[in-house]
Amino acid sequence: TRRVAILISGGGSNMVALARSMTGDHPARPCLVLANDPKAGGLARAADMGIPVAAVDHRPFGKDRAGFEVALTVAIRPYAPDILCLAGFMRVLTAGFVGQWQGRMLNIHPSLLPKYRGLHTHARAIEAGDAEAGCTVHEVTPELDDGPILGQARVPILPGDTPQTLADRVLVQEHRLYPAVLRRFAAGDRSPVFLDDAG
Ligand code: GAR
Repeated sequence: TRRVAILISGGGSNMVALARSMTGDHPARPCLVLANDPKAGGLARAADMGIPVAAVDHRPFGKDRAGFEVALTVAIRPYAPDILCLAGFMRVLTAGFVGQWQGRMLNIHPSLLPKYRGLHTHARAIEAGDAEAGCTVHEVTPELDDGPILGQARVPILPGDTPQTLADRVLVQEHRLYPAVLRRFAAGDRSPVFLDDAG
């Protein structure tokens, strides 16, 4: 059984979707949920599910990203994960950390990569007049929101959409896509998954 650590910063709805999916004949199980904010709502949700939780507050480290990452590594190591899933983890990781996990670390990003790396993806897609938006799960490489694409889900952008209404619609698909990709990835299958909101 593959061991999965999930890194979060906030409410952790993707973490919950991932954790719930890892039952039965699934090739993986959650071994840790870690947040960079001790107040992240997802930590309580994970603890309620019986998953070990940890927090490494990034703030005392200031600009010392390497120091923060050493603390992350120390916190993660006892749980011996095979796979790291970033799920709304809002800290940029350096090449040093990413290199240690290359090929074993996934991220979900709320756009149809390679479009709209970084923040405010939904506002940018609406502003650009795009007909559709979506989310991407990819392997993490040192370049931000780059790396081999393991899955995408598309949703239409509707007249009157705001960044929030669009985000809500994309999030529903995130909760389908990330578990579908993780199941394959944990079984050693890196062929991409493509979903749309028709089913
Ligand atoms: C999700 O929409 C995820 O795609 C996004 O943050 C949200 C976290 O929600 N991630 C990023 O923007 C990464 N740069 P959650 O905490 O409820 O899963």
